[in-house]
Amino acid sequence: MQVSEHIKNIQPPPITEVKSWLNGRAFPIDKPLVDFCQAVPSYSPPAELVEHLKNSLDDPLTFKYSPDEGLPEVRNEVCAWYQRHYQGSPTPEQLCLTIGASQAFWLAMTSLCQPKDEVIVQLPAYFDHPMGLQALGVKVVYAPFDPTSAGQPNLETIARLITPKTKAILLVTPSNPTGAVIPAAQVTAFFELAQSHNISLILDETYNAFIGNTPHQLFNRSDWPDNFIQIASFGKTFALTGLRCGALIASDELIQQALKIQDGMVVCQPRPTQLALAFGCRYLDDWVANNAAAMQLRHDRFKTDFLTAKHNFKLIASGSFFAWVKHPWADLTGRQAAKRLVEEANLICLPGETFGPGLEPYLRLSFGNIQVAQMTEAIERFQLV
Ligand SMILES: Cc1ncc(COP(=O)(O)O)c(C=O)c1O
Repeated sequence: MQVSEHIKNIQPPPITEVKSWLNGRAFPIDKPLVDFCQAVPSYSPPAELVEHLKNSLDDPLTFKYSPDEGLPEVRNEVCAWYQRHYQGSPTPEQLCLTIGASQAFWLAMTSLCQPKDEVIVQLPAYFDHPMGLQALGVKVVYAPFDPTSAGQPNLETIARLITPKTKAILLVTPSNPTGAVIPAAQVTAFFELAQSHNISLILDETYNAFIGNTPHQLFNRSDWPDNFIQIASFGKTFALTGLRCGALIASDELIQQALKIQDGMVVCQPRPTQLALAFGCRYLDDWVANNAAAMQLRHDRFKTDFLTAKHNFKLIASGSFFAWVKHPWADLTGRQAAKRLVEEANLICLPGETFGPGLEPYLRLSFGNIQVAQMTEAIERFQLV
């Protein structure tokens, strides 16, 4: 079988790889596995959303295709959600419902880029982004990671990386893996940089519900569609990761082009997902706000405990869901360090280098899974190695 060289050169899916290290291992009751690996909310969607979905199962329509871009009434609900949370909204025509943020990313990139185009990606990068770009034959131009920046991208550094082949600047806020939130004024500055070069600013805002205030004001600007694309996920917002719930938000023109890909790729977001999304947008603002506050408490506890516990790991940056830490072993890669943590501390996390080249000294910890009451004990594991 002749498999594409592009695909062969891409790293394996990091979470699958890391979880495979657990195969055949058992963890004792007095030292169970501590999972700092995957960024999933530890809670389920609320009972009323589950009930709503159960009731929908009697309707034969629930099992049918919808329009490629999603049902109009669902897109209207999503726009109303944006109006409340961003004080500005795309129109329903500027929105295509997708199979998670993951598929929104593929729609954006396939609609925007041709092979050999360049996309600027901030390090550390959410691994699926470079993996997808590599598969498309798009050149990933990395903006270097500055350990003193607390995970913030630097405008001047990124400006210097723009060439005639650049199609987009791709940023993630809040960042996976650093947790850093790009301040609204900086988002505007990145947008205006993109505008001045007639390229796109693409923001992956998968964790936007966990910021606690308006993430940015771009949707208030009439000119946003010319140079801005948002990759949205409602998977973390409404605890629906398994229903695969996301959206691509972009100009009418880009959405029209993206629908050509959507049709062949998936046709549409499944209707049950759309029903859950509309319900969440309409009724769950308070539920989301409460969970965001709980996640903030989890972060605060993580940070306090991590900084006061006696170990040799260094906190470089942290925020909603994530911490980016430096491990103490100069002679070990992130992979080797993460394996050592599995073996000696019964703790699982992601190696830095899965987030881009040169990041071997780092590890990503995701504490979305870990309750406040268990945090101190989880962090004590770092003392064991
Ligand atoms: C930054 C970022 N983008 C996209 C995704 C994928 O989101 P979805 O489950 O909506 O496809 C994740 C999932 O962890 C993520 O962290």
